[in-house]
Amino acid sequence: MNATLSTPTTPRGEQRAAAFNDGGASPGDRADGSAGPMAGSGTPLLDLKGIRTGYGRIEALHGLDVAIHPGETVALVGANGAGKSTLLKVISGLQPLTAGTVTFDGEDLNRRKAADRVHRGIIQVPEGRQVFAGLSVEDNLMLGAFSRRRDKDVADNLEAMYQRFPILKEKRRLHAGNLSGGQQQMLAMGRALMAKPRLLLLDEPSMGLAPLIIEEIFGIITELKREGITIFVVEQNASEALAIADRGYVLETGDIVATGSGETLLNDDSVKAAYLGG
Ligand SMILES: Nc1ncnc2c1ncn2[C@@H]1O[C@H](COP(=O)(O)OP(=O)(O)O)[C@@H](O)[C@H]1O
Ligand SMILES: [Mg+2]
Repeated sequence: MNATLSTPTTPRGEQRAAAFNDGGASPGDRADGSAGPMAGSGTPLLDLKGIRTGYGRIEALHGLDVAIHPGETVALVGANGAGKSTLLKVISGLQPLTAGTVTFDGEDLNRRKAADRVHRGIIQVPEGRQVFAGLSVEDNLMLGAFSRRRDKDVADNLEAMYQRFPILKEKRRLHAGNLSGGQQQMLAMGRALMAKPRLLLLDEPSMGLAPLIIEEIFGIITELKREGITIFVVEQNASEALAIADRGYVLETGDIVATGSGETLLNDDSVKAAYLGG
């Protein structure tokens, strides 16, 4: 599958660093920790180094490096089975590492459990939305605020969420299972926002949705980006995801095979051939 993607000049597991100069800093650029002149430079909010993990004896990720800087929207694109969801689970603390480090805001998270990572603001919208079908829309949203249930402003946040997603207000008393796929995606995103994410992880937000609804979902992601939320979005829908991303990574069977600005990757011949229909 996707044999055409392999960049002949790129050894397995190595990133094409040449394409990385438009926004992302390479580790050597910021030895002094200072912010460079370009957006996305400086100390990463999330820094993944040498990430290896697998299922039983089958390795799914073969030593990845990914860095996400404060305020960036970064896309991870790749075919079904490439390891995208596995990487998000690594970040959330749901998938144990066999090697590598996860650093968030300067703190080594390797020994931190999933719940501790939620407290630090790492909030994932899982693949397939995973809303609680038998609970009301409002209860689903309130569950997102569980980790900050003692905060006084949760009620205000709920009202803000209803302004952002009026359809959720209209349907707030209905069971979430009655919503359409697009509405469930909005609910899952609203639930995540109720947790006040510092890093929002989106796993295939467009999966299974009709084209018009996909546009709407990516429009919402673009709004969140404008509001300054740091976003890591994982997608098989490479063209849509790269179009809204500051930077992107291409994942192929557990290795990053290309990285660069969203625009660079959209115009990259090997990416086009494999993911963008030529
Ligand atoms: N729970 C699991 N048990 C065994 N293998 C798994 C499991 N989850 C994923 N895999 C395997 O790990 C690889 C990466 O899967 P995944 O991260 O789900 O890819 P993606 O999200 O890119 O579609 C695939 O080969 C998949 O079959
Ligand atoms: Mg997946």
